[in-house]
Amino acid sequence: MREKIADRSAEIAVIGLGYIGLPTAIMFANAGFKVVGYEIREDVVKKVNSGTSHIIEPEIEDMLRKAIENGNLRATSDKKEIAGKDVYIICVQTPLKEDKTPDLSYLENAVRTTAESMKKGSLVIIESTVPPMTTLRMAKLIEDITGFKAGEDFYMVHAPERVMPRRIFKELVYNSRILGGINEESAELAELLYRTFVKGQIFKTNSTTSEMVKLMENTFRDVNIALANEFAFLAHQYGIDVFEAIELANTHPRVKIHMPGIGVGGHCLPKDSYLLLSSAKEDFGLIKKAREINEDMPLFAKDLLIDALKTINLPVEEAIVVVLGLAYKGYSDDTRNSPALKFIEEIKDIVMEVRTYDPYVKGTHENLEDALKGADAVVIATDHPEFKTLDWQALGRLMRNKILIDGRHVVKNPPKGFVFKGIGRGEY
Ligand SMILES: NC(=O)c1ccc[n+]([C@@H]2O[C@H](COP(=O)([O-])OP(=O)(O)OC[C@H]3O[C@@H](n4cnc5c(N)ncnc54)[C@H](O)[C@@H]3O)[C@@H](O)[C@H]2O)c1
Repeated sequence: MREKIADRSAEIAVIGLGYIGLPTAIMFANAGFKVVGYEIREDVVKKVNSGTSHIIEPEIEDMLRKAIENGNLRATSDKKEIAGKDVYIICVQTPLKEDKTPDLSYLENAVRTTAESMKKGSLVIIESTVPPMTTLRMAKLIEDITGFKAGEDFYMVHAPERVMPRRIFKELVYNSRILGGINEESAELAELLYRTFVKGQIFKTNSTTSEMVKLMENTFRDVNIALANEFAFLAHQYGIDVFEAIELANTHPRVKIHMPGIGVGGHCLPKDSYLLLSSAKEDFGLIKKAREINEDMPLFAKDLLIDALKTINLPVEEAIVVVLGLAYKGYSDDTRNSPALKFIEEIKDIVMEVRTYDPYVKGTHENLEDALKGADAVVIATDHPEFKTLDWQALGRLMRNKILIDGRHVVKNPPKGFVFKGIGRGEY
């Protein structure tokens, strides 16, 4: 296997061609390996084989076309085409069920497919984010299906992905990687493989540690955002601007407070702390509480809106509200778990009308001026750069009443003539 990796003759199957799997397959193909992407969605297979990407990501179209044209990458939904490969890289989704427990059905299916396809000596890599000890459980599942012995007849590694959408092709190369092997040989083989395009540092460890590392990274961010949100809640009661306080606190050499806001969205942060807790018998409760705080932040924005409507004596049921931004973060079109959507869910049955405007998201108002005509309140839910330079005096003239709720600290100076409330902005 070592020689095959060194001379690029190792054949690779990537299971799942989503946000992570497709760029990963492209990177290995462009590093000189023959890669087959196995994907259950036939529309994705068709698109990839025609050289077009189904995900939006800078550079992806060129990189994909190159991989397809040089004959190193093709996609398939036919299991037979991934039989007998040297390496299997699993990149399927690991979401939560309704009850917030992990839904590992996609992963288990992908591992079954791998077990039914692999040969003696194959290296199996899980890139998906998984609860601690999952890789060991999946190794056992492969042993049960194949009769092979883990660590001897096949190798297995958890190689968590740490890229950020919009920077994927840079971060795949320059981020450091954690490779958690079920044994040392597994981690060493994976290191040789990733070294073919990774320029960042590579750290080897065991698979449960690498699973924890990935989940701890995202939980760290989630808990710290919750702490900032708690500070924002307190600042309202003390009548101060929490952003000024945070800026001042962060002048301390060992303090780095995160930013509060209307909530935490995206594919990963809202689920990863639940994945972290899911394999444990007990915990202290801090992580759950942080998640609860972040999940409730859209309700905080709703309270600010209702307070503002009271200020102008407009009954809530008569209000026309415009939500600016549906994406979970600025510059992005991704609305997965977006707090904007939760906020809309919370208010849509109590106000007269909710309109949306997001220059990055299809299906919202095409034009901000149209959205604002005759409206009573604007709620900023995403920190898109376009929202930072709006002329509120001009926009206010289009509105019936002038309420501005800032959920993302986008408006630094409250515009004159508006009832302004912002998360963390205390009293004005
Ligand atoms: N998206 C990110 O920014 C990001 C960052 C770091 C880590 N991760 C983790 O990476 C994993 C993948 O995330 P994603 O965003 O790429 O998910 P995704 O939903 O975009 O892609 C998963 C793909 O796998 C396919 N699939 C599911 N089951 C399959 C099977 N049995 N066989 C073949 N294909 C199958 C799906 O059809 C889908 O196209 C998750 O665990 C996620 O938490 C994601």
